[in-house]
Amino acid sequence: MALLERRTAVITGAAQGLGFAIAQACLAEGANVVIGDLDGAAAAAARLAGEDRAVGLACDVTSEADVDRLLAAAVAAFGGVDVMVNNAGITRDKTMRKMTLDDFGAVIDVHLRGTWLGTRAAASVMREQGRGGSIVNMSSISGKVGNPGQTNYSAAKAGIVGLTKAAAKEVGFAGVRVNALQPGIIETAMTRKLSDEVRASRLADVPLGRFGRPEEVAQAAVFLASDMSSYLTGVTIEIAGGRNL
Ligand SMILES: NC(=O)c1ccc[n+]([C@@H]2O[C@H](COP(=O)([O-])OP(=O)(O)OC[C@H]3O[C@@H](n4cnc5c(N)ncnc54)[C@H](O)[C@@H]3O)[C@@H](O)[C@H]2O)c1
Repeated sequence: MALLERRTAVITGAAQGLGFAIAQACLAEGANVVIGDLDGAAAAAARLAGEDRAVGLACDVTSEADVDRLLAAAVAAFGGVDVMVNNAGITRDKTMRKMTLDDFGAVIDVHLRGTWLGTRAAASVMREQGRGGSIVNMSSISGKVGNPGQTNYSAAKAGIVGLTKAAAKEVGFAGVRVNALQPGIIETAMTRKLSDEVRASRLADVPLGRFGRPEEVAQAAVFLASDMSSYLTGVTIEIAGGRNL
């Protein structure tokens, strides 16, 4: 049997990049998939093979109403939610001298408020269903080590680790597991924006000698989503080719 047969996975920020790769991997493992994104969610769902098992919905993860609507749509389409991947993210990289309060707030809002709203809404649906569930939150190696030019992003990604551990303790009694992923540099639109200089300096720190591929993050997400990780909760898995060990 496929790892996520008869499960439904909701994935935010999944119109492209890591979220889309996670949606593809969940679908390949038999799950129904619900994509939430600011833009392009329906088109992304249509691009997935087996599109009768994929639905896309416009959703801003900073909006409580949007996140609740996303979960409700998953329940309406597929009868429940078993996996929630809080993946949506943005960067507004600048040193503190140039970073505005707006740059700081926007990044904190999408990552931290968005992940909290998604975790809370999914945990509530999963508790009521009474069949457990898995919540996967997208942190980053930047949240472990801190990156210059990313005081906003590093703070948000470190906060997601704390949120994940606290939520795991709150909802474990109901068989709901909450874990986090910390990717290093993975080839997506987000990291293609980095300057050649920054890419070269980060690559020098990667023992495996290359950046990661979205599918490699997706494999870890499927592991956390599935019963393969049935006794893991509150943990953070690094997918960074050994960078910043
Ligand atoms: N690419 C990397 O190297 C890397 C490394 C570590 C962590 N991450 C994290 O992985 C996640 C995905 O990153 P990616 O590289 O695929 O980026 P990406 O820019 O390719 O995709 C991010 C997606 O999130 C969506 N999004 C942004 N704000 C949103 C909002 N308010 N509501 C709903 N959707 C929103 C965007 O529309 C986009 O589709 C992010 O949380 C990012 O911080 C990425």
